[in-house]
Amino acid sequence: MKADSPVTVCVTGAAGFIGSWLVMRLLERGYIVRATVRDPANMKKVKHLLELPKADTNLTLWRADLTEEGSFDEAIEGCHGVFHVATPMDFESKDPENEIIKPTIEGVLGIIKSCAKAKTVKRLVFTSSAGTVNVQEHQLPVYNEDNWSDLDFINSKKMTAWMYFVSKTLAEKAAWEAAKENNIDFISIIPTLVVGPFIMPTLPPSLITALSLITGNEPHYGIIKQCQYVHIDDLCESHIFLYENPKAGGRYICSSHDATIHDLAKMIREKWPEYNVPTEFKGIEKDLPLVSFSSKKLVHMGFQFKYTFEDMLKGAIETCREKGLLPYSTDIAANDHTKSLLPHSTEIEAKDANCRTANDHTKGFLPNSGEIEAKTANFHTNEPAPHSIEIHVNGE
Ligand SMILES: NC(=O)c1ccc[n+]([C@@H]2O[C@H](COP(=O)([O-])OP(=O)(O)OC[C@H]3O[C@@H](n4cnc5c(N)ncnc54)[C@H](OP(=O)(O)O)[C@@H]3O)[C@@H](O)[C@H]2O)c1
Repeated sequence: MKADSPVTVCVTGAAGFIGSWLVMRLLERGYIVRATVRDPANMKKVKHLLELPKADTNLTLWRADLTEEGSFDEAIEGCHGVFHVATPMDFESKDPENEIIKPTIEGVLGIIKSCAKAKTVKRLVFTSSAGTVNVQEHQLPVYNEDNWSDLDFINSKKMTAWMYFVSKTLAEKAAWEAAKENNIDFISIIPTLVVGPFIMPTLPPSLITALSLITGNEPHYGIIKQCQYVHIDDLCESHIFLYENPKAGGRYICSSHDATIHDLAKMIREKWPEYNVPTEFKGIEKDLPLVSFSSKKLVHMGFQFKYTFEDMLKGAIETCREKGLLPYSTDIAANDHTKSLLPHSTEIEAKDANCRTANDHTKGFLPNSGEIEAKTANFHTNEPAPHSIEIHVNGE
């Protein structure tokens, strides 16, 4: 897939947790990257992209929104590859049909249309979700790419994040059909819970879940009860690996570790005892079987996972600490201001640590990360974009 001269690729949702790490790795590899974001002028949300090595020469920002038809046409025109990472994630939405489900489905269909119009796109890589695979009444011991979530079950239960599971499942299914009709080389990657360090300034949505034992965010315990994990870097490397591998085709689970809530608690207790993670969880059995996601297909293609489960948590915890998004210890949690550093409670402001959370979304599975904002020491808003970075607003 990669030619000798620099190859231009488009990454949607480029400012997010996965998108920004993927942009960083693509730039390192010498790709010319067109990064789509909804508001390229919002320095708070794009500064981390503009500061990446090689950004001044190889990165451009493009405004595009999944809710606007034809919005991605210009960013995709002339690209060799497209990584469609963006997805709406406000799980507290009052209008999930119009705010989550419709934009996710219509968004991917619009991107397929943009790829067809462009005629230059050799492969479209879609970041799917484990939510398309195992959301069903009875968990299997092992899941693979043939499994799909049970939409009737999701719609009848309306569990936390149900609209996300519906949106990703319907979007991926619709995309397979549309890609076939439009003759687009389409592959989907199915990450499980993505954990690790991050370059975005705010708390990544999946870390609310992964670090919920530290923050005491109990609504998330159901998700980590029998969970699967992948390191952010392994995930992004797998995106590039599959994009570049001419033999790649179909769906690929990308997951390296399975763990119960007890395994996760044990790991945190041993490595970060300062967080006082409990040993028992109300309503959760002691003996839980693992539920596994098999990455055999990906590994058989030659992909190697590099990171351990501990690496994932270490990267996440250290980055959160550096950015003032997590306290160094919960030993003094009785103290009000420390409590306010835990990114799960509502309407709290921790000025001392330059950390503000306002997350009534955290009751949901993966809250809108835009609601949680880290004011780190070197972070200034309203700064003009460096002149060397091109910003494209549709039509310009
Ligand atoms: N993190 C995980 O554990 C995990 C697991 C499985 C699958 N995934 C998938 O990975 C992808 C990225 O997730 P993430 O964890 O990186 O989440 P994230 O940090 O919230 O990034 C999602 C991005 O989507 C963009 N977006 C939202 N609504 C949009 C719209 N209407 N139009 C255009 N862009 C829109 C946002 O862009 P703006 O910057 O413009 O706001 C945001 O940067 C998603 O497709 C998700 O389903 C994630």
